[in-house]
Amino acid sequence: MSNPSVLKNGLTLALIAGVCSGLVAVTYAFTEDKIEDNRKAFLEQKLKPALSGLFFEGDVTESVVTLKAPHGLPGKDDALIYRLYASGEPVAALFIVTARNGYSGPIRILLGVDISGVVTGLRILEHSETPGLGDKIDEDKSDWVQQFAGRSLEDPAIDGWQIRNDGGEFDQLTGASITPRAVIQAVRETLVYFAENKEQVFAMPGDSAQ
Ligand SMILES: Cc1cc2nc3c(=O)[nH]c(=O)nc-3n(C[C@H](O)[C@H](O)[C@H](O)COP(=O)(O)O)c2cc1C
Repeated sequence: MSNPSVLKNGLTLALIAGVCSGLVAVTYAFTEDKIEDNRKAFLEQKLKPALSGLFFEGDVTESVVTLKAPHGLPGKDDALIYRLYASGEPVAALFIVTARNGYSGPIRILLGVDISGVVTGLRILEHSETPGLGDKIDEDKSDWVQQFAGRSLEDPAIDGWQIRNDGGEFDQLTGASITPRAVIQAVRETLVYFAENKEQVFAMPGDSAQ
């Protein structure tokens, strides 16, 4: 025969567990929208520095498309493209792609390009490069990343999209050529992709439409 106090304790515990689960579910339901708003605001803050001087309407994150590799853009990770508009017309695209050949592995970059192919900004989102050497690609460590805004495939021409040591027009980092080489290659490949696929970039259905 079962012991009544064991049964009572079991029922009390089950009741407490049920009430707690209910509370968690209710709290989640009430905060879900807020969490989503905060997530979006955080992402917007992260993306905006690559859009310097650009006028666009709506939120940066409104029209994003995620491409699975192989996608023709640099890297084997998913590539993300945020499309930006003004008066219903495309004005720019923001690319999140991966530079493959960093010194310590892949480097995730954010590149803004206006509709005419001019870079509106470059930022480094994730990397594992060495502190004091390759990590100077990070805007908090040096202004290396600032040299790309305003440049395009015409300025410099394609051969110039290399570090100065390799005959190009972009600064390297002292004692660390591998990292900037990897980033510049990814930027160049992304610009070429945009130039060759501009119409398609803005015609692809966004993630929320899929
Ligand atoms: C411990 C260690 C860490 C290094 N980290 C980097 C790095 O993060 N990025 C980089 O480009 N080179 C790094 N290097 C240097 C490269 O091996 C290579 O020598 C350098 O990129 C070549 O640049 P240079 O042609 O300007 O001399 C590192 C070297 C050592 C020994």
